[in-house]
Amino acid sequence: MALSKEDVEKYRRDGYLLVDNFLSEEECDQLRKAALNIVEKEDFSQHPTLTFSTKSTEQKHTKSDYFITSGDKIRFFFEEGAVGPDGKLTSEPRVALNKMGHALHALEPYAKQITFGDKVQKVARALELNKPRVVQSMVIFKPPKIGGVVKAHQDSTFLYTDPMNLVGFWIALEDADLENGCMWFAPGTHREGVVGRLKRTIKDGSVDTVYEGDAPRTKDEDFVSVPVKKGGLVLIHGEVVHKSGANQSDRSRNIYTFHLYDAGTSTWNKSNWLQPSDSLPFPCLYE
Ligand code: FE2
Repeated sequence: MALSKEDVEKYRRDGYLLVDNFLSEEECDQLRKAALNIVEKEDFSQHPTLTFSTKSTEQKHTKSDYFITSGDKIRFFFEEGAVGPDGKLTSEPRVALNKMGHALHALEPYAKQITFGDKVQKVARALELNKPRVVQSMVIFKPPKIGGVVKAHQDSTFLYTDPMNLVGFWIALEDADLENGCMWFAPGTHREGVVGRLKRTIKDGSVDTVYEGDAPRTKDEDFVSVPVKKGGLVLIHGEVVHKSGANQSDRSRNIYTFHLYDAGTSTWNKSNWLQPSDSLPFPCLYE
């Protein structure tokens, strides 16, 4: 399936694009099953971000390090609302997961097959990406009742390129709607530039991150909701402001997402938290 000329124009105008039926039901089920299988096999009893520490700075370092070194691994992150003041989960780990990432596209065979497959390649070519490199991937779980709000943000705050040339692929593995926390977009905001940056820094002798700049706009009337049926793809321009609601339903909202940038026309910023590693240099969709 290739994007039409109108699709591409819409993406460039609004900063996002919904493509229905991008993956089949079967592809969604297989990808979701592969993801849940990884979760099933994980031993959460000694999870580093849940191991209680009496020193809060020590705990913070552990969390920062666990995140910053996750680019070439599959790691697990919990919903903030599911972690109590003592750093322990208030529910069973498997139902409290916010996401896992950030190298499913390299380490999980079916995620790899989908990410580097024909369908994705056709979209990237329609967007005229010369040398698209995949930089990260995640499954976001948004569990029933626990899945929290994602505040308004621009993806390029976290994944910056010079010039900006980042595209997010967001695929609904289950229906995403107003009740279980679909995304909301502020159309056209990708033309206003990146307002904030999350940068790598050294804090107390360890690698950490620091936020510089402003927060993006948050006026409710600027946003439109984008419900997506299972199998639908949303393309996300790196600079468009978007957010998602809490999951108030008793259904999960599992999605697979990955980001790529055009290495043919832009450079990966060295101050991004995520950097290519020896074991996983950002792989190309095609050259
Ligand atoms: Fe995002």
